[in-house]
Amino acid sequence: MCGIVGYIGKNNNAKKVILKGLENLEYRGYDSAGIACNINNEINIQKEKGRISNLKENINFSEKSNIGIGHTRWATHGKANKENAHPHKCGKITIVHNGIIENYIELKQELSNLGYKFNSDTDTEIACALLDYLYNQTNDIIKSIELFKEKAKGAYAIGLLCDDDLDTLYAIKNKSPLIIGINKDENYIASDVPAILNFTKDYIILEDGEFAKINSDSIEIYDKNNKLTDKKVNKFESDLQDISKNGYEHFMLKEINEQPEVAKKMIDEYINKQDINNLIDLSKYKNITIVACGSAMHAGLIGKSLIEEYGNIPVKVEIASEFRYKKLFIDKDTLVIAISQSGETADTLEAVKIANDKGCDTLGIVNVFGSSIARNTSKVLYTKAGCEIAVATTKAYSAQATLLSFLAYSLAKNTNDKNKLNEINSFLTDLNKLPILMQKVLDNNEEYKEIVNDIYNKNDIFFIGRGIDYSLCMEASLKLKEISYLHSEAYAAGELKHGTISLIDENTPVIGIVTDKNIADKTISNIKEVKSRGANVIYVTTEELDNDGDFYDKKLIVPKTNSLLQPLITIIPLQLISYYAAKNNNCDIDKPKNLAKSVTVE
Ligand code: AGP
Repeated sequence: MCGIVGYIGKNNNAKKVILKGLENLEYRGYDSAGIACNINNEINIQKEKGRISNLKENINFSEKSNIGIGHTRWATHGKANKENAHPHKCGKITIVHNGIIENYIELKQELSNLGYKFNSDTDTEIACALLDYLYNQTNDIIKSIELFKEKAKGAYAIGLLCDDDLDTLYAIKNKSPLIIGINKDENYIASDVPAILNFTKDYIILEDGEFAKINSDSIEIYDKNNKLTDKKVNKFESDLQDISKNGYEHFMLKEINEQPEVAKKMIDEYINKQDINNLIDLSKYKNITIVACGSAMHAGLIGKSLIEEYGNIPVKVEIASEFRYKKLFIDKDTLVIAISQSGETADTLEAVKIANDKGCDTLGIVNVFGSSIARNTSKVLYTKAGCEIAVATTKAYSAQATLLSFLAYSLAKNTNDKNKLNEINSFLTDLNKLPILMQKVLDNNEEYKEIVNDIYNKNDIFFIGRGIDYSLCMEASLKLKEISYLHSEAYAAGELKHGTISLIDENTPVIGIVTDKNIADKTISNIKEVKSRGANVIYVTTEELDNDGDFYDKKLIVPKTNSLLQPLITIIPLQLISYYAAKNNNCDIDKPKNLAKSVTVE
């Protein structure tokens, strides 16, 4: 996802602040970067393909500047090259943009007829030309922005400079995130708070349709009806250490190791500080639909298993991009839960809007405070995982699953299912031991590195399991694929024999996950089926189910805990196996190719 940083200030720190801010946004994933600054009342632009380090090497202006905008681009329209990189300048207007202008082709035609020429393949350049045209017609930036909002359709977060007013930074927001950072004698704009954490923790969140006129010591914000409005100033909870590696080689490794701390924060926030039953009363709904993407969807699958098993409410998990375009059977008796680390994933956000329109209550399980999904759901429960910088989510996924476990427990407390009483009665005791067990698993690195030696140079690796273990397989498979570029597949263990088992050859790596004692024998039978066909089996199970046998080549034992919490332990070795496989393959672990931390486009 693109990153935006802008600066206006008497301290003339535009270049320093913008470059630092862009570096803090590198985690979002990008393929080119650029900066525009006012140097002696003229806009200087430098843009380069590749990393910010490349941009810094080539910047041809060193003077201090009172105002500027910068951008990291994750290509949507047009190749990842210098011409398509932002900022774009047309006439007197210079902009950076995150999002997609949906009617850019129609606008391009209109503007071409008006004599505009275009040098790039981007929708952003067309937005810039439109703003320049409107400014030429009105000679008024505010009026131009109002007209732009009427003519441009789609998602945009825009930082804007105007040659005729280089003491003012403009920001325009619609469906793509944009915040305003506040400081003494200088102010900022950014796509996300980490960009400006080195300079301030005070920020304003712009909502859809809003725009701002920002000077070094004043901020005017206009609401979606173009009327001046006041906005709440938020203080960011995390701090700089959240966006530094703290001695770890990669953010991903740091965040995997932060999971015990995150578990403690979740316990403190949702168990110690408040009554779990007051979080939300799930029992008043006839059914639940979870909408999410990627790992958040995989956390939803964990939630489905636990809420159905312990809460006796039917749960459907929908991939948000599918949910948006299918026939839906949701109504006022349905709770729609949107799970999202960033709170800005376009498909999940649009799914929430559909659910709202259908009259459903919506619950956001979100990590980023004040994000779009947090602000569009009827209620939001934050996952308290802190800033997650690595593109591949780990601690936020675990925090999502933890919160869903709490919701399942809150329902279970009200049922008298005899089979579950042991788990329910020991839940709080087991929960307090969770961080300790997580740490025990984290300390077992050498065993995981040993396992990685069998898979890091293989493709077509299988993860097989049943029930909640199958959901874990899906998350483990995605982790391995997205950071080590090794192809893997999660498969329902019982389904293999219906065709895919034909792919099992001598030494095909198969990781079998067996933590649910109720179906352990069945899954072990499936593992034996692949073992008998030559697979190289890694058997992942708990102390409770540990047994010697000839159906595996390596065994990985994880501590046994409460069934409502077991996935939170079992996923950790699988995260570390993916990490070490990627390390063995010298992959760009925190910023995998082609990926963005939050996908704010369809
Ligand atoms: C997770 O490792 C991936 N980077 C990706 O699947 C991610 O979970 C997905 O894009 C959803 O993002 P969100 O949680 O911010 O909505």
